[in-house]
Amino acid sequence: MNEQDEQVWTDVDGYIGAHLGVNSPALDAALAASVAAGLPEIAVSPPQGKLLMLLAASVGARRILEIGTLGGYSTIWLARALPDDGKLVTCEYSADHANVARQNVDHAGVGGLIDIRVGAAMDTLPTLTGPFDLTFVDADKEHNADYFRWAVRLSRPGSLIIIDNTVRGGAIVDSAKDDPATEGTRALYAAVRDEPRVTATAIQTVGSKGYDGFVLARVLSA
Ligand code: SAH
Ligand code: DHB
Ligand code: MG
Repeated sequence: MNEQDEQVWTDVDGYIGAHLGVNSPALDAALAASVAAGLPEIAVSPPQGKLLMLLAASVGARRILEIGTLGGYSTIWLARALPDDGKLVTCEYSADHANVARQNVDHAGVGGLIDIRVGAAMDTLPTLTGPFDLTFVDADKEHNADYFRWAVRLSRPGSLIIIDNTVRGGAIVDSAKDDPATEGTRALYAAVRDEPRVTATAIQTVGSKGYDGFVLARVLSA
């Protein structure tokens, strides 16, 4: 993973975006407003965002749960798969991030579908009523096993659960790495393995966000 590789991955993400109509003014504006507000530049890439939308559309999602809103970039992508009477609940710890996200989702024309819950997700999740057709987990990686267990609890048979950043540049297989995010990611894989009510895979990705990946789980029974 040298700088040349990373540049090619970024260029290819640009090529994909240009050829497949991945970008849109409202989404670009959400990213620009997030940068202007000083938020970290860690939103999903445009092709990943569109994958989220396609997955949500494929399961006919009407109710979506997101953990980790940031500026609402992935939120807008997911909301674009919802019908007019759909609902997306998104959990965000930072009130500042939530304020930026509120402006961005309103500006994108999907604000009426979106319920932003400010606070630690582990406090918000017990207050939610399921089922959700799709859950996207993308917050603090330390809690990913807990978030996964909550996502299962708030699912129905056929629901999808997607967890972002589950490869982390290969750190998960590097025994020298024991930072909380990496340990949290390993705990997530163990939790998925030990949960008989889901069937899951994980896919490695490269792109403008570097080398990472995601877990995709389908709930069989809830
Ligand atoms: N899904 C977003 C990126 C999320 S970045 C996108 O792709 O556009 C991760 C977010 O999780 C940050 O905004 C961070 O403030 C939030 N977060 C961190 N810890 C959290 C917690 N305990 N509960 C809820 N949100 C949390
Ligand atoms: C980080 C978090 C993310 O969700 C992501 O997609 C990339 C980076 C981070 O905390 O560094
Ligand atoms: Mg992420």
